[in-house]
Amino acid sequence: MEKLIALCKTRGFVFPGSDIYGGLANSWDYGPLGVELINNIKQAWWKKFVTTRLDMVGIDAALVMNPKVWEASGHLATFTDPLVECKTCHERYRADQIDLSAACAKCGNKGMFTEPAAFNMMMKTWLGPKEDASAVAYFRPETAQAMFVDFPLVQIASRKRVPFGIAQMGKAFRNEITPGNFIFRTREFDLMEFEYFIHPKDWEKTFEYWLAQMHEWIAECGIDASRVHALEVEVADRAHYSKRTVDLEFDYPFGRKELYGLAYRTDFDLSNHAKFSGARLEYTDPATNEKYIPHVVEPAFGANRTFLAVMLSAYTEEQTKTVDGEEDMRVVLKLPYHLAPTKVAVLPLSKKEELSSVAYALAEKLAKHWRVEYDETQSIGKRYRRQDEIGTPFCVTVDFDSLNDQAVTVRDRDSMKQERVKIEELEAYLAEKLAV
Ligand code: GAP
Repeated sequence: MEKLIALCKTRGFVFPGSDIYGGLANSWDYGPLGVELINNIKQAWWKKFVTTRLDMVGIDAALVMNPKVWEASGHLATFTDPLVECKTCHERYRADQIDLSAACAKCGNKGMFTEPAAFNMMMKTWLGPKEDASAVAYFRPETAQAMFVDFPLVQIASRKRVPFGIAQMGKAFRNEITPGNFIFRTREFDLMEFEYFIHPKDWEKTFEYWLAQMHEWIAECGIDASRVHALEVEVADRAHYSKRTVDLEFDYPFGRKELYGLAYRTDFDLSNHAKFSGARLEYTDPATNEKYIPHVVEPAFGANRTFLAVMLSAYTEEQTKTVDGEEDMRVVLKLPYHLAPTKVAVLPLSKKEELSSVAYALAEKLAKHWRVEYDETQSIGKRYRRQDEIGTPFCVTVDFDSLNDQAVTVRDRDSMKQERVKIEELEAYLAEKLAV
């Protein structure tokens, strides 16, 4: 974990937030490479679950919704974690994450924890200039609710018939008691989720179908499947709306913890919104005329936890040799090509104008298709290592022979094999290899 966090910082994947002010606890900024990786994850998710499917549509709703939404959804009453406080040093903990009979991790005193109390995780704000009760609003703790609230508008506008799904991705906010473990648990994070509306009789088979799809997605992201485990969540640990939940957990360096969740939300949300808003949220089956409130199976994916599991799975240390034949250790991020932030690096062997001008023009040409880095500083060995560390699938080296034979050397990240390729064939060569 330490190594990954260091790599993320030095190579520009993830930085501590507000760094020059001493940071802000548990806030993280995605840097130039991190934003590319997380965007690639989001795009791949949207493509797999929305744009390539006939039964799915997307929305992008407002982040702050009418506070009544959170009354109806049950979040104001029940979106809580159990909080305990050490009576000696006043450090606060999540009661379900510590041994209450052990000593306080901060001051070392034993038997000083308060009784667990329910702490609501909704992040509160005020809309407009008055900070009174009438202006209270909340940042959404999940993206799900807009997909329930907008259900009738989406269904009519898109003319979708049940079964169909509504997807959304975007920021969610939770006032977590104990955020931590790098980007694993933060107070603002990116969610990617969809609500799949079904006839209640179909919930079991739909649940199994989406569970299999989630495993497929995990494999496509290059997440190490041997570190992923399905956990049937006990009634007492399920969210208030769920009749069945399976958590897909991942073996992080800090333990086995949740990566994704799959829940059968029944008609809990649509029924409650119908009750609280007075709107009719029934669906009429056009074939049978049966009227019913659709039930929902919901796969929920944290984008940041995907990022972390992808990075942890891709991070590899390999014993190898330098270009001069000396023993060396290389760090390589074996990211799937479609997720790699940079697809191609163009590296002239010398900074001399006659080479760099050719190499730079080539980099500009390739950048029309893929994200390309141009780097002419340091030894070629060091430049290869840097590209390995950021997971760049291909390095293209321009040398003095290139000026005569109009060819370049293409180095493969994983095998480190090098191949001479004609410049005029390079785009087609890379397009075939990358297929993205
Ligand atoms: N709509 C259902 C829902 O929000 P959840 O299990 O509370 O379910 C879904 O959250 C996913 O969001 C989790 O599986 C996890 O990937 C991610 N997640 C939850 N809380 C998080 C946090 N504090 N920081 C980062 N990711 C989080």
